[in-house]
Amino acid sequence: MADSGRGTIRAARVVPGKPESARVVDIEVVEQSGPGAGIDEVVVDGLLVGMCGTDVEIIRDGFGSPPPGRDEIVPFHESLGRVVSAPDGSGLSVGDLVAGVVRRPDPVPCPACAVDAWDFCLNGRYQERGIKELDGYGMQRWSVPPKFAVRLDPSLGELGVLTEPASVVAKAWAQAELQWKRSHVAGRSVLVTGAGPIGLLAALLGVQRGFAVHVVDRVTDGPKPDLVRGLGAAYYPDLAQVTAEVDVAIECTGVASLIWETVRRASVTVLTGIAGAHDPVPLDPHVFDDIVLGNKAVVGTVNAGLADYRTAADALAGADRQWLAGLITRRVPLERFTDALERQKDDVKVVIDLG
Ligand code: BGC
Repeated sequence: MADSGRGTIRAARVVPGKPESARVVDIEVVEQSGPGAGIDEVVVDGLLVGMCGTDVEIIRDGFGSPPPGRDEIVPFHESLGRVVSAPDGSGLSVGDLVAGVVRRPDPVPCPACAVDAWDFCLNGRYQERGIKELDGYGMQRWSVPPKFAVRLDPSLGELGVLTEPASVVAKAWAQAELQWKRSHVAGRSVLVTGAGPIGLLAALLGVQRGFAVHVVDRVTDGPKPDLVRGLGAAYYPDLAQVTAEVDVAIECTGVASLIWETVRRASVTVLTGIAGAHDPVPLDPHVFDDIVLGNKAVVGTVNAGLADYRTAADALAGADRQWLAGLITRRVPLERFTDALERQKDDVKVVIDLG
């Protein structure tokens, strides 16, 4: 099917670590996904991209790397778009609402990438759109091989931009499940630390799975406590206030002191946040005793595989639309995408309108 597109589109560009370099440029449509892009790809009109902590780290702190031979990258990996053309047999049709997958398998490939489990890549040579060596989705038209376009329930509309963060959380839940089954844990109550988009989506998936959900975040006002309560979950501004037994914890803050406390509390802890250099805490050896004597599991998880994207798409399709809409608290136009970097008090998820 035709319309691979010619002409120019607008695209965000930035030299990682140099926010002052951020600009929006005209690019040729044919440049959209680099060498190899062609008639076998699904061509998508970009509608929205989401800004997340990783994008801030790329733009401000120089995380990630541009495509080889260039100093700029098109940022953003949380995507939403509408199919303009799709190869025959791809299972996709013109007009479908899709989200693009972030990671691509390494070229070796490692044993994980060889079976399309690129989110578990073992040699670190994977690529990620908008993060590592590949241009991202911060452009008005993009293309991907069909398997990297996840079809969404059309009734989700713009809420489909939450698919990628939800995929990360779907993988976290899948990892938690593997662990609680191994240790005969009841798997009925979950502690979620952090009420940003990842924590809130983790809470949503917990409620959908029938868990009693306890969410901790330090804020006491703004939209987060109400979003948590809107799910029927309990909100606490301090972990010490959670008196309930906790089977599973999904840690979404990356705050080291909270991570230790979470591991102490839960039988199974899944870590999704990056602690980095923030908030160093002394290692308390008792935590290791707790882990051994309690048969506890602490699992790290990053990125997501195709099955997780599908779980995420289904979870969003089954969620209350008004609740999901409450997660998107600000919208900025592509031409001013750097406005999304400045955190505002009540921000949950800030999206960039590519229109
Ligand atoms: C993205 C993941 C990615 C990770 C590390 C996260 O923000 O959601 O897809 O693997 O950053 O680059």
